[in-house]
Amino acid sequence: MNRLQEKVVIVTGAAQGIGLGCAKLIAAEGAKVVLGDIQKERGEQSASEIRNEGGEAVFCAVDVRDEQRCAALIEVAVKTYGKLDGLVNNAGWFPRATLEETTTELWEQVLQVNMRSAFYCCKHAVPKMRQAKGGSIVNMGSICGIQSLPNIVAYGAAKGGLLSLTRTLAGALSDDRIRVNYVIPGWVLSEGELKIQGAQGHSKELLQKEGERLRLGRHQTPLDAAYGVVYLLSDESSQVTGTILHIDAGESTLPIARGAYPG
Ligand SMILES: NC(=O)c1ccc[n+]([C@@H]2O[C@H](COP(=O)([O-])OP(=O)(O)OC[C@H]3O[C@@H](n4cnc5c(N)ncnc54)[C@H](O)[C@@H]3O)[C@@H](O)[C@H]2O)c1
Repeated sequence: MNRLQEKVVIVTGAAQGIGLGCAKLIAAEGAKVVLGDIQKERGEQSASEIRNEGGEAVFCAVDVRDEQRCAALIEVAVKTYGKLDGLVNNAGWFPRATLEETTTELWEQVLQVNMRSAFYCCKHAVPKMRQAKGGSIVNMGSICGIQSLPNIVAYGAAKGGLLSLTRTLAGALSDDRIRVNYVIPGWVLSEGELKIQGAQGHSKELLQKEGERLRLGRHQTPLDAAYGVVYLLSDESSQVTGTILHIDAGESTLPIARGAYPG
């Protein structure tokens, strides 16, 4: 349980869901973690849970749509723990809307939360990682970044842009020994997902039943994604950059129209 010993890692969107699952495992593997999230109370509580479990963690309130707040998040990590080795750009928002339903405002918001946020965090994290003589950035992607669904158009564009940013930065930053990778979780019934599905009249029970139809027989969990993220943050992946790590039980190999896969 010491694969990230001595490392300092920021996870955005870490108050709940996949981000919290990642933050917990990262801390359990010995890293000092900075949890960034727009939800202050929930974020404080999540950081405190990690500390109660014996990990090292602090919370920093951040709206990742705001460049100055992202810069401040990076500063908090360096001021608190002295350096920065890892960044997990996980904060996300995935409202369902077809092309016709997507207003310019919704488009802007979805791209800001899911893609522009990563640009801001990378921009301010990279100089600190250069000082640390290297680093690892993990972008939380989606199958929708490769091919999205008819009812989640802006999100697909945002996650596609995030994939392109991943590959671009992987090439641009390799001389600095900064690696950049993209993780594709499968379908996780996180709080955010349950809320969005609930608004569409889909109960938790119905969604759980849907999970049994997925390949390998179940939904993925935050921990499934976290295992991959820990690998990509650790020195075990020191020769891995610009890659996509699918943690979706092969769901992305299916024709996109088949599944209920939501993003
Ligand atoms: N749940 C899934 O099935 C699934 C599948 C593929 C990819 N993903 C991706 O995984 C990531 C996490 O998703 P989740 O399912 O845990 O969702 P979630 O809604 O449960 O958690 C998202 C977190 O991001 C935070 N957040 C949202 N907007 C923010 C902002 N402007 N600034 C700071 N924090 C903000 C939220 O407060 C929340 O804590 C997202 O990037 C999502 O696109 C999820």
